[in-house]
Amino acid sequence: MKINNNFNNIQESYLFSMIAKKTNEYKKANPDKEVIRLGIGDVTKPLCKEVIKSLHDAVDDMSTAEGFHGYGPEQGYEFLKEELVKYYAGKGVCLSSDEIFISDGAKSDLGNILDLFDKDNTVLIPDPVYPVYVDTNTMAGRNIVFLNADGNNGFLPLPDESVKADIIYLCSPNNPTGAVYNFEQLKEWVDYAIKQDAIILFDAAYECFISGDDLPTSIYQIEGAKKCAIEFCSFSKTAGFTGTRCGYTVVPFDLVREDTSINKMWLRRQTTKFNGVPYIVQKGAAAVFTAEGQKEIKEAIAYYKENALIIASALDKLGISYTGGKNSPYIWLKCPNNMSSWEFFDFLLEKANVVGTPGAGFGKNGEGYFRLTAFGNRENTVKAMERIKEAIEKYL
Ligand code: MLT
Repeated sequence: MKINNNFNNIQESYLFSMIAKKTNEYKKANPDKEVIRLGIGDVTKPLCKEVIKSLHDAVDDMSTAEGFHGYGPEQGYEFLKEELVKYYAGKGVCLSSDEIFISDGAKSDLGNILDLFDKDNTVLIPDPVYPVYVDTNTMAGRNIVFLNADGNNGFLPLPDESVKADIIYLCSPNNPTGAVYNFEQLKEWVDYAIKQDAIILFDAAYECFISGDDLPTSIYQIEGAKKCAIEFCSFSKTAGFTGTRCGYTVVPFDLVREDTSINKMWLRRQTTKFNGVPYIVQKGAAAVFTAEGQKEIKEAIAYYKENALIIASALDKLGISYTGGKNSPYIWLKCPNNMSSWEFFDFLLEKANVVGTPGAGFGKNGEGYFRLTAFGNRENTVKAMERIKEAIEKYL
């Protein structure tokens, strides 16, 4: 018997588990201190009324013989997929409902999709990056090539023709940097992927934070993308489903490699290894697309974006540079006084009782940077920024 020794090549614990552990230890040692968490990107506003009503109705359905639902279609109920077809049509993207797969969230699918690809593929991953991309490929023993995202390219690296890649990860609006690719930049990526015969895994989990039509909210708004990209998205940040769990993955029919439909492979994979998202949860997610649901979720997103402005303006006053915060819930800042990411983490925890995420946890280029999230509640966001300002002015 042999274990998967690739697990020896990843950090012992996942970034956000490590932060939670450090925070809990600090709280245990300092029970009188009120710690504000602006670390993990977890929402704080409750589910909107329209979603709650739909969840209740779905629970009632389950209590009658006619309304009861047992195993559902593994790839999701048509009632939710049809809403997503309309949602994409609103972005100018034409999809068939069979190109959409409902899941329990983007994170799971971003890892699970790797079942479809050979172990010997080379994976191109920007650094810094959401740690799931690196960890899941390391677990599978794949060769990873990193692409530098830094202040010089505004944390938006573009393709390097001299690098050969088979699988490419892109996240826009980016986690952790908050940077957003424009249409021309994404087109460069699509052209590069087509030339390389590569597949882009496009993480659009934060698309709802983009305002206006100047920036792409789906990779399929780029010509040619259906031939080279899979898109992952979720209701977590859009509609507060971090604890309720529902997401979706788009695998276009046009995506074909080695004469094989990737859509068919994914359907085969999902029907074998996944039994679908609960009917009740999918009903809740479908309510996001009613007129009232859209109004309510947009209010919540606007609230978080206002938090981002509060964080950004406090940083402006402190003369600290940052990216993000405008079309993204994340603010990615340069640690003051050339502190390392973890030094600044400890400083903020101890001197301001505020938790953030050390940039170094997202890769080597994240060293010296720090991420704050706008998903806190208003009172805590204001208080946290006051405390950070006081601590920096007093100690640094
Ligand atoms: C984050 O804080 O980066 C995200 O909340 C993690 C996630 O979405 O899984």
